[in-house]
Amino acid sequence: MPRNASHRHPRYATGRIIGAHARERASPATVGEAIEACARELTRARVHFGHGTDNARDEAAELVFFVAHLDHARGAGAYALPLNGRQRARIAVLLARRIRERAPLAYLTHRAFFAGLQLYVDDRVLVPRSPIAELILARFRPWIDPRRVRRIADIGTGSGAIALACARAFARARVDALDISGPALSVCRRNIRRLALGARVRALRSDHLDAVRGTRYDILVSNPPYVGRAEMRRLPPEYRHEPASGLAAGRDGLDSVRIILRQARAHLRDRGILVVEVGNTERTLQRAFPRLPFLWPMFEHGGGGVFVLRAQDLDEADVSVSAVARRAKRGRQ
Ligand SMILES: C[S@@+](CC[C@H](N)C(=O)[O-])C[C@H]1O[C@@H](n2cnc3c(N)ncnc32)[C@H](O)[C@@H]1O
Repeated sequence: MPRNASHRHPRYATGRIIGAHARERASPATVGEAIEACARELTRARVHFGHGTDNARDEAAELVFFVAHLDHARGAGAYALPLNGRQRARIAVLLARRIRERAPLAYLTHRAFFAGLQLYVDDRVLVPRSPIAELILARFRPWIDPRRVRRIADIGTGSGAIALACARAFARARVDALDISGPALSVCRRNIRRLALGARVRALRSDHLDAVRGTRYDILVSNPPYVGRAEMRRLPPEYRHEPASGLAAGRDGLDSVRIILRQARAHLRDRGILVVEVGNTERTLQRAFPRLPFLWPMFEHGGGGVFVLRAQDLDEADVSVSAVARRAKRGRQ
């Protein structure tokens, strides 16, 4: 019996014919129609949004604009443009992969947008999405005077998104893009070249700030791993495509942040600031460091869980390696 024998059954045959007609009728002729159709499919498939978009329509728009080589700046003005057969087929393939594989769209298109920059991404790096973008565009005002910023370090740089956006925002600053992952640094270097920022941004392999001992910065910025063990198990499938080392941070999600807090003061100039995203680990962090006067900026474009500390806040609370060791010793005596 031929393997597709069941297709000869009237029920299947009818289904196929109706299906083909329905597809023909629904085949989107324009950019706007394709966005509507993709958004409907994404909603129906209940995919998770959280990698640069937070809703079906925006994600559908990125998919269609990517295939049609359109600039998002054109917005709805491009919706009436016609799509050719190849573009429609490409949209269908990408949409099917997004739904079947549950891969973040950015890994299929190999592009992500951050603070006005377009970056290359693949599954060696997290898809950039930190709300820190908004603080960078505001040049970290009011916490620092942007005119005197000369040195910045991005701890756990991944694609280089934060480091590169900082380099663009602070034209006179040199930026160290640090990451423990060699594969992530390859992606970062590719983005440095793409954006022609090699004269001011260097990618360095470093366990937190270990590779830059003795260097002091005006701004230390980081979106480190901060997902706790229990939450890691509950993450939607899309996050499993991302490198676990970019997300997982021990039992309570604070492994990396604790190290940053201990190392930061020795790497900050006296009027420098530390800016770190901790997401929904915010409350755990405040319980763990009750003496630190964290400032939690509000964001216009969504997101939160980012703290700002001034160098002097770290002086007063003294969370340096030596102070923590001193306290531990006192505790043992
Ligand atoms: C949450 S991802 C952030 C990537 C990028 N900054 C962004 O916002 O898109 C965290 C990054 O920290 C890096 N990382 C993890 N452990 C590290 C460590 N001990 N030292 C330096 N970087 C580390 C990971 O490789 C990953 O690229």
